[in-house]
Amino acid sequence: MSAIAIDGPAGAGKSTIAKLLAKQLGYVYVDTGAMYRAMAVYFSQNDINPDDENAINGAVDNIDISIEYKDGVQQVILNGENVTSLLRTEETGKMASKTSKYAAVRTKLVALQRGLAKKTDVIMDGRDIGTIVLPDAFAKIYLTASSDARAKRRYDELKEKGENCSFDAIKEDIEKRDYEDMHRAISPLKQADDAVLVDTSDMNIEQVVAALSKIIDEKKAGR
Ligand code: DC
Repeated sequence: MSAIAIDGPAGAGKSTIAKLLAKQLGYVYVDTGAMYRAMAVYFSQNDINPDDENAINGAVDNIDISIEYKDGVQQVILNGENVTSLLRTEETGKMASKTSKYAAVRTKLVALQRGLAKKTDVIMDGRDIGTIVLPDAFAKIYLTASSDARAKRRYDELKEKGENCSFDAIKEDIEKRDYEDMHRAISPLKQADDAVLVDTSDMNIEQVVAALSKIIDEKKAGR
């Protein structure tokens, strides 16, 4: 099976781009952040303190997560319940960031991710795909953008939805999340040695898709 790994900080546009590329290439898109978010939903629903590693370890044994596809869109099933609609809130994102540092959480989800990549061609996005989950991926991309650019995109998105928000607070949240993701002891976010860096700060979606398609074509051709 062929695999493409896309890693990078929150808000760099990984999932938007990976979805478009998956369609173009006929690969299955796997959003690994959604799996960490589903675990976070369980921890929140069961009042588990994200700072208590023993409590987290105990809870992980009671969590079963699987992935399904409905009309080509990834669904995350947590203990038999489809929790996909609960995953994208700020609160769940924060809980996921705090609890994704634990070995028990990562071991379980990395096994699930590797299992998916064994069955089908995947384009998988996350923080540790090129470094840990799929070190043999034939193309690895590290997608990033300045925190200003990422905060501006998020701000515009929220404004579009009519939500009241502050640019400075969004930027601060993004930088805090970057710090947590990059400084944890296990599988921190970092560019794999053989990943290609793409900074999307001054690019639109079409330009990013074109840049990544070119990288993937070159890798396929063995260049
Ligand atoms: O990409 P996202 O915002 O949905 O991810 C939520 C959190 O999950 C992120 O802050 C860190 C964690 N995560 C991770 O540790 N490893 C991954 N492969 C994907 C996400």
